[in-house]
Amino acid sequence: MFRLAAGTAAMLAILTTPQVVMGNSGSLNVVCSAEQPWCDLMATAFEKETGVDVAMVRKSTGETLAQVRAESENPKIDVWWGGTGDPHLIAAAEGLSQPSGVDTGELLGWARNMAEISEGSAIGIYAGALGIAYNREVLEEKGLTPPSCWADLADVSYAGEIQVANPNSSGTAYTELATFVQLFGEDKAYEMLHEIGKNVNQYTKSGSAPSKAAARGETGISIGFMHDMVTLASSGFPLEIVAPCEGTGYEVGAVSVIAGAKNPENAVKWVEFALDAGVQSRAVEVGQFQVPSNGNATVAPESPDLASIKLIDYDFATYGSGDTRARLLSRWDADVKDAEKN
Ligand code: F6P
Repeated sequence: MFRLAAGTAAMLAILTTPQVVMGNSGSLNVVCSAEQPWCDLMATAFEKETGVDVAMVRKSTGETLAQVRAESENPKIDVWWGGTGDPHLIAAAEGLSQPSGVDTGELLGWARNMAEISEGSAIGIYAGALGIAYNREVLEEKGLTPPSCWADLADVSYAGEIQVANPNSSGTAYTELATFVQLFGEDKAYEMLHEIGKNVNQYTKSGSAPSKAAARGETGISIGFMHDMVTLASSGFPLEIVAPCEGTGYEVGAVSVIAGAKNPENAVKWVEFALDAGVQSRAVEVGQFQVPSNGNATVAPESPDLASIKLIDYDFATYGSGDTRARLLSRWDADVKDAEKN
């Protein structure tokens, strides 16, 4: 059970349902793969600044890539904002997104790197590291030792206690899969994910859902992005955040204009807006703690300090390739998901 302690409003914002926001003067269809409160803030602020009507839905990163692929002949989305960078890079390589031509001069190196790999079609908007969270009350109650390494998650004592997303739908979980492969080598990575899988109670669609479940005490342990865990811990949930001892991977979240967008000018306006330092600094208003990509944006003191975390040199060109992703996902389906408890 969780307590509604201080910061109740922030907690409710985290757990609320999607909304469609409309304004006037031209229109824009946005798929948002960040958290709902931030999607809503962005849509409202953009409408206010530009007068453009924004129709927005929230979808996980892998799901959005599937939609963009399915609609390639007749795109319904103008701009895809948020979500992990790898599927944005895949969309760019498949010609499903197009360069926006906006100025990236104020952006940090990792954000410009994404733009360079995708020849201007996917631009970095934020970064965040992957980690483990546990509910200290649940673990204490069950007499379980907190994990400190990825390898610990395979311990039999955690049977039924771990929740993580499905990498087919979730960019967070795909980042985890790619991180394991980069950290341990492919065969060992799948062996570990298979063993950890024996302790997994659910593979969720969205990447932030497992940590929300851990915050509510529905699962003892979650895997996800540390900034999402910070959101929950700073709202009063009994969540502890672990930077795994072996090191960890990270995401560069991105924004892309969809090829053949029906509202290309408004889409480019959105990209300019999303890269603005003042706009990026507003994430904290809705409890979002990724590191912003604009070097002039304010980094919230709560944001995980990426320099103090043992980060791998995540290979975005390789793991943001469609062939690599398809191969890793089909092996994950066979060796991890379908072989769940064997
Ligand atoms: O907004 C929260 C967040 O963790 C982002 O940092 C990330 O890009 C996105 O969720 C990924 O969501 P999903 O795993 O559902 O694709």
